[in-house]
Parts: sequence; C-alpha cells; structure tokens
Amino acid sequence: MAIAVDGPASGRRVVSGASRGVAAITGAGSGLGEAMALAFAGAGYDIAVLDVDEPRAQATSARVIALGRASTAIRVDVADPASMSAAASAVEAELGPVSILCANVGVQQFGAIDRLTADDWQWVLSVNVFGTVNTVMSFLPSIRRARGRRHVVLTASAAAFQVGPRLAAYTTSKHAVFGFGETLRLELQPEGIGVSTLFPAGMATRHLDSSAAARPAELGPSVTLDEDFVALMASTTVTESSVVTPDFAIRNLLADLDNAEPYIFTHGDYRAEVVSRNDAILQAFDRQAG
Ligand SMILES: NC(=O)c1ccc[n+]([C@@H]2O[C@H](COP(=O)([O-])OP(=O)(O)OC[C@H]3O[C@@H](n4cnc5c(N)ncnc54)[C@H](O)[C@@H]3O)[C@@H](O)[C@H]2O)c1
Repeated sequence: MAIAVDGPASGRRVVSGASRGVAAITGAGSGLGEAMALAFAGAGYDIAVLDVDEPRAQATSARVIALGRASTAIRVDVADPASMSAAASAVEAELGPVSILCANVGVQQFGAIDRLTADDWQWVLSVNVFGTVNTVMSFLPSIRRARGRRHVVLTASAAAFQVGPRLAAYTTSKHAVFGFGETLRLELQPEGIGVSTLFPAGMATRHLDSSAAARPAELGPSVTLDEDFVALMASTTVTESSVVTPDFAIRNLLADLDNAEPYIFTHGDYRAEVVSRNDAILQAFDRQAG
C-alpha cells in the first residue's frame, strides 16, 4: 500500500506499507536521535523528528521519507514546555497519536565544580532534566490515545554509573533522568505503557558542537578547557577505542523494547565500577541493618 501525506514541514510524502505507529524522537537531527529515527522507520514506524536545529531535523526527516515512511520535522526547544506541547499537538494532527516517545536530548558542559557558573547549571538542568520531563508530560496525552504497544525511552548516560571529574552538571542531570524514569515506569505500568532508560557510553557524535550551538546566547559562550578533557580521560576507563557509532549503540534497542527491558546499556568496559558502587551501597545498607 502507498499513501501520500501532505504536511507543513516536510511536503508531500509517499508511504509504503502499513504503519506500526508513530515514534516521536527529540534530538533526532543528529547522532543517537537520528540513528533511532532511522531504526524505527526501518521497523515500520512513522517518525516525528524534533530538534532545536531545524535544518538538521528536516534532513533526518528526508532520510525517513526516503525509507518509505511518513515523517514531519519540527523545531522544538525541550526546555520550553510551550514549545513541546505545541509540537505534541502538531505531531498528532499530522501523523496520529504517538506510540513510541524517545526523550533523547541532552547537552554537555564540562568544567571543574569551582568554575561551573550558575548559568551553566541552570542550562544543563533545564535541558537535560526539565527538558526530559517536558517532553514526557507534553506527549503523554497523545501516548494514552495510541493503540497497541506504547513505550517511552529516556536517554540517560553511562555517566550515571561511570562518574568522572569535570562533569558535575552533566552527571547530576543524568542521575536525575535515571530517577525520573524509575518513578515514571511505576506510574505508567498500570496503563501498559513501558518505560526504558538508555545508558549510552561514548559515541562519535556532534554532542560537544551541538551543545555549544544550542546554548542560549544570553548565557555567553560555553567554556571548556583542554585540561577538563585531560582530567576526565585520566580518571575513567573510556578510551578512543571504546567510542562507537550511534548505530552500533542502538543495535539491540528494538529487541530490548520488545522485551520491555527497564534498563538498556549500549557498550563499555565499566562493569567493575557498577559492581563496586553497588557493593559499597549494599555494605552501607547492611551496616545500618546491624
Ligand atoms: N555522545 C556521547 O558520547 C553520549 C554518551 C552518553 C550519552 N549521550 C546522550 O545521548 C543523547 C544524544 O546525544 P548525541 O551524542 O546524539 O548528540 P548530538 O549532538 O549528535 O545530538 C543531540 C541533538 O540535540 C539537539 N538539541 C540540543 N539542545 C536542544 C534543545 N534544547 N531542544 C531540542 N533539541 C536540542 C541538538 O541540536 C542535536 O541535534 C544526549 O542525551 C546525550 O547526553 C551521549
């Protein structure tokens, strides 16, 4: 079956085969979000590509359309609840209710704790934490109207487990995303809506450049010193060989969602750090238990 759909952002599109539903993905103009958009399109979903970088969102949307699926590209700022609710309405009007929501945007700001400014903290938390909450709260009514399998994917980071220096704002924000997902899963479970938290490790993407570009001009330029990278790399098990492509990072994503896995890890050699932190927490727990 092929149907043509008209839409304001993407023009006329030709769609092949029945749709499995609609996937809405933030940060889909680049990197991991773009890889998710193409993977879900390949699996038969129509795709809403949401990004603050509109030309990049449109480019991803065009790639989805080339795969034979319907798509729309919408400029959003996840930190702005009004922008997200307008996008949720537009996506449902154009493509239908959303079955899969990927709240994927995150920005990076390196810096020693003494050097991170109040504006740095405000920006990182407003995008990474409130942006994730805004995304979910804006799209939840649409997800509730969708039929069939429904799922929310939150992009956290290996930084929730593999902590390093010069990343205080980012690491704090990704722990918050992890915590939000834990409660969200419990609250949506009775409605049959799954929640998975994704913990990517290092990927070759535009993350630092796109973060600097997305930072509001009134905050001034983002300052990252070479010594921040040196300090980080000296302290962690991340090496250049452990940095992968976004496509590789999501190679198991669709299968993990089919299995409603609560946690999705992508790659990386930090199992020992997870074990050691969990052991320390269990020891602290057991000390109080006597
Ligand atoms: N690259 C890595 O090594 C890595 C590792 C762990 C986790 N992550 C996480 O993966 C996610 C995707 O990052 P990526 O590596 O694909 O980066 P990326 O830069 O390739 O993609 C991020 C996209 O988000 C968009 N964006 C930034 N601020 C926005 C805003 N306020 N509103 C809407 N869109 C906005 C950017 O324009 C960009 O297109 C992020 O949450 C990031 O924290 C990345």
